[in-house]
Amino acid sequence: MTLSPGELARTGLRFDLDQPLPGAATVTLSRPERRNAQTPGMWRGLAAIGRSLPEQVRVVVIRGEGSSFSAGIDLRLLGGEAVPGSEPLPSPADPGFEDWIASCQEGFGWLRQPEIVSIAAVHGHAIGAGFQLALGCDLRVLADTAQLCMREPTLGLVPDLMGTKPLVDIVGLPRALEICLTGRILAAAEARELRLAELVVPADEMNGAVSDLAAAILTIGPATARATKELLARAPRSTLAEQAAAERAAQAPLIRPRVLTPGAPTL
Ligand code: CAA
Repeated sequence: MTLSPGELARTGLRFDLDQPLPGAATVTLSRPERRNAQTPGMWRGLAAIGRSLPEQVRVVVIRGEGSSFSAGIDLRLLGGEAVPGSEPLPSPADPGFEDWIASCQEGFGWLRQPEIVSIAAVHGHAIGAGFQLALGCDLRVLADTAQLCMREPTLGLVPDLMGTKPLVDIVGLPRALEICLTGRILAAAEARELRLAELVVPADEMNGAVSDLAAAILTIGPATARATKELLARAPRSTLAEQAAAERAAQAPLIRPRVLTPGAPTL
């Protein structure tokens, strides 16, 4: 399903193809008056973008408009209030409740697909679902104004938008537990120390830094980038021998055209 720009705007999103440069696309959370608070409608919009992503897009940048990346779920929903552009939260007594969460998670899962590299460009607050959206991306560039916080347990909830696995993968179980159960704010410098950011830059340099990163990634051929991402993604759950076998299998289709046709372009 493709959403028109108007339909996307109603979910609080904007999609800009060829931004910051050709071969990339930028998704902007665009409810600055609510600090880009997220709704199920926004998650459906994100999922629709993922499903209809043009084939030429190889880098996706996620950013927030205004002073925050995202202040997490729109708290009015938790209070049972109606929020324009979104359905209300269903009752947890509903037998389809977990399926409903799965449909919301679709807005995040596509950011890890092998055909793209996703970059979260985070400035200001990334709280709750905002932090999870940043964690859902392959890479994170933080402005020095960034403040990350996993607030869900403070509100009596667990993080359920696919943020727990990347958090543990990156910082390890003890630190992830400490971050989640204290609900404390991580400033950009600490996020860098914990490897939650690939790069921390002054706020006014963030767009340039994201653009440079996207440009560097786009110099790699699409088949090579995809194979490399798949290979690295499987490494944590593979033995050394399994990973070595995966390297051999991934190399053959990349090197074959060059051996058969010397001077063939990089895939
Ligand atoms: N939901 C709804 N509205 C929000 C919001 C949110 N999460 N965050 C901010 N807003 C609204 C405020 O109500 C305010 O609206 P009004 O102008 O109508 O009063 C407006 O956005 C601006 O907010 P502030 O004046 O508070 O802006 P600030 O820059 O001083 O502070 C902030 C920014 C620190 C993010 C602060 O707004 C804040 O703490 N927001 C709440 C964050 C939060 O607890 N989010 C829930 C995380 S848990 C989660 O996300 C659960 C999940 O995934 C299931």
